[in-house]
Amino acid sequence: MAEYTETNGAKHFELEATAGETVFKPGRATATWGFNGSHLGPTIRARRGDDLRFTIRNHLDETTSVHWHGAHLPPEADGGPHQAIEPHGTWEPEWTVDQPATMLWYHPHPHGNTARHVYRGLAGLILIDDDAGDGLNLPREYGVDDVPLIVQDKNFDGDGQLEENDTFMSAVGIVGKEILVNGTYGPYFEASTRKLRLRILNGSNSRLYNFAFSDLREFSVIGSDGGLLAEPHRTDRIILSPAERTDIVVDLEPGETIQLQSLPVDIDFGFVYNRSHGMDDHLDVLEIRAADELSDSPDLPGSLTEIESLSAAAATAERSFRLSGMSTINGESMDMNRIDFGARVDTVEQWTVRNGNEFTHNFHVHDVQFQVASIDGEAPPPPLAGWKDTVLLVPGRDYRLLMRFSQYTDPDFPYMYHCHILKHEDSGMMGQFVVLGEGE
Ligand code: C2O
Ligand code: CU
Repeated sequence: MAEYTETNGAKHFELEATAGETVFKPGRATATWGFNGSHLGPTIRARRGDDLRFTIRNHLDETTSVHWHGAHLPPEADGGPHQAIEPHGTWEPEWTVDQPATMLWYHPHPHGNTARHVYRGLAGLILIDDDAGDGLNLPREYGVDDVPLIVQDKNFDGDGQLEENDTFMSAVGIVGKEILVNGTYGPYFEASTRKLRLRILNGSNSRLYNFAFSDLREFSVIGSDGGLLAEPHRTDRIILSPAERTDIVVDLEPGETIQLQSLPVDIDFGFVYNRSHGMDDHLDVLEIRAADELSDSPDLPGSLTEIESLSAAAATAERSFRLSGMSTINGESMDMNRIDFGARVDTVEQWTVRNGNEFTHNFHVHDVQFQVASIDGEAPPPPLAGWKDTVLLVPGRDYRLLMRFSQYTDPDFPYMYHCHILKHEDSGMMGQFVVLGEGE
């Protein structure tokens, strides 16, 4: 957990991006990057209403940036490609947390280099709390019954170094054969409570996971990217594409050991693609060892939160986006000097997004949490029915997203939208929009 100091009522965190070495497998030191350490970064914990301030120092020999994925904030604090931190430079963003309790994450977003920076280890979590969430009696003891998991895949070469080149003629970039959880190889967790809450981030560059337990027991999904769901949803598996999060609660029996696994992804992209991009893989992710005596946990509430449902009828702008190839949205690649459109503050927009290929893309929008109003005209499945900032695009389907832009406007400073398959993002599958104030 990140330490902070209080300055003028703000929580002030310091992050130092550094190069170092990490031992993943006994006897082998791997060159990695991290914040305040050699790999990954500390968890930032904040409450709704907090004023946050960061001092970020870049000790690397190349330009990076730090983007607060999923956060609602001014564009100047967003940490996208326009907020490059030069080698040995410093950046000091600040904003006030004003969004529901959830888990966000932070990672670099330097133009064209995001994949490499994240893969080397620059990533961390942000946990946001609020009064409504605290009142629910959900498991929330950090590291005890409320355990965040950063799930990433890596390939190591014979010297134990990270392989950074695509292993296949890959349309999606690196697909790792080894799974790390919170930067640990061969991870296990010793559980001491009957209910275990896992907040899972797919922090991988391109791999999809289909999370399930080894005995296919059911669990409750209680939250998505941007907050709690309206009510817990029972299922035995959940797919996450890169950057998506889920918040689940699983029941444990005393003395048992189970595996959190990733099952083959049950989306048919075609045999070659499924094979070569790891979609058929069956992976162990985390071993969970329950103690012989587990402390009791309260039942989950039947309802978690009220989600204001954005109405398509109220949308004042409609836009459509088609992602295709490895580098274009609506036929154009990212240009730092081109603003693709302006959205108006305090309005709802409807975006129809489509994957025009037969391989994976997903779609992420900065600044907002959106709602998936429909997928090919049908209501979304319950895990996608809450607040989202990233959604997997199954090929050939129309995803209707509704979102409201609020509070922060700047006619000149853009936010990004892009595919979060990092190779695609780096290749230009990204665009920029600004949020305009009234009369702008
Ligand atoms: Cu997680 Cu534009 O990023
Ligand atoms: Cu893509």
